[in-house]
Amino acid sequence: MTRWQPLLRPAALLALTLAAGAAVAEPLVIAHRGASGYLPEHTLAAKALAHGQGADYLEQDVVLSADDVPIVLHDIHLDGTTNVAERFPDRARADGHWYAIDFTLAELRTLAVGERLGRDGAPVFPGRFPADRRLFQLPTLAEEIAFIDGLNGSSGRVAGLYIELKGDHFHRKEGKDLPAAVLQVLEDAGYHEADSPVFLQSFEPATLKRLAGEFRSPLPRIQLIAENAWGGVPDVDYETLTSDAGLAAIARYAAGIGPWLGQLYQGSDDAGEPRITDLAARAQAAGLLVHPYTFRSDALPPGIDSFDALLALFVDRLGVDGLFTDFPDKARHFLESKP
Ligand code: G3P
Ligand code: CA
Repeated sequence: MTRWQPLLRPAALLALTLAAGAAVAEPLVIAHRGASGYLPEHTLAAKALAHGQGADYLEQDVVLSADDVPIVLHDIHLDGTTNVAERFPDRARADGHWYAIDFTLAELRTLAVGERLGRDGAPVFPGRFPADRRLFQLPTLAEEIAFIDGLNGSSGRVAGLYIELKGDHFHRKEGKDLPAAVLQVLEDAGYHEADSPVFLQSFEPATLKRLAGEFRSPLPRIQLIAENAWGGVPDVDYETLTSDAGLAAIARYAAGIGPWLGQLYQGSDDAGEPRITDLAARAQAAGLLVHPYTFRSDALPPGIDSFDALLALFVDRLGVDGLFTDFPDKARHFLESKP
């Protein structure tokens, strides 16, 4: 019996019902790296704010430390959001990056975390939390689950986990088993059963298939969709994966897909009408949930003049089943304002 079960709320039930192919009421609000529009990504503070803002799920990107501890961090590198360059100036690899996998948990605990900076040292989102205030620490996955589980209990409102196994191919190359480590943490926390409020996500079909096959995990899986041109995962052709045959194949090991916005909406035509692709409709016809990323009110796609207009397009017209957003409060407000 998991802690959250007595508190089960419609969000968790909705995800489970959707996986079973039942009618859709309202899309899930997935807090992308927490309420990262307001507080530095993947800090416990950002997760607390997202929880309070009514997110249905809180996202975790997870990588391993040198001593095999799952850490909540978006990149396999530490340099984007921490002071690792100042703290450990001699520990970068030849490519100029500091890799989380080269540091023990004890070392990672000494890092200060703040707003994301680009390689030029400037904030990626200048209007967000002040970049000079690195007031936070890296959470382990176990700590973050304990934190969210505690909030679920104290608030009486359950927010689920939405865990991305980040860079599994990289971990394998380094001799690490990221899926095994993540599943162990989930089992230790009691978040490993079919009705646990958890999604597992990956850009790598092999990772998801292994969760389904070798590990027999009952947790619903989401196949993230990238562009081949991004070059993130070797040997994965996302064009093939999003063909009708590819979607049918995904449906055999995953509950849904997570495409990026540009794969569903491609600007406006000469008459000002949005250009909508058929990917969402084809995926849903194949029985798959559609959870696109990432909805940001401070980085709207071309041809969209407000966050509400963006949400209306994806929710009302495309009928997505969930959405990753840096601004869960605004998504929740949009959904609650609907008749
Ligand atoms: O996992 C969904 C979305 O977060 C994928 O993009 O790069 O933010 O992990 P990314
Ligand atoms: Ca992610």
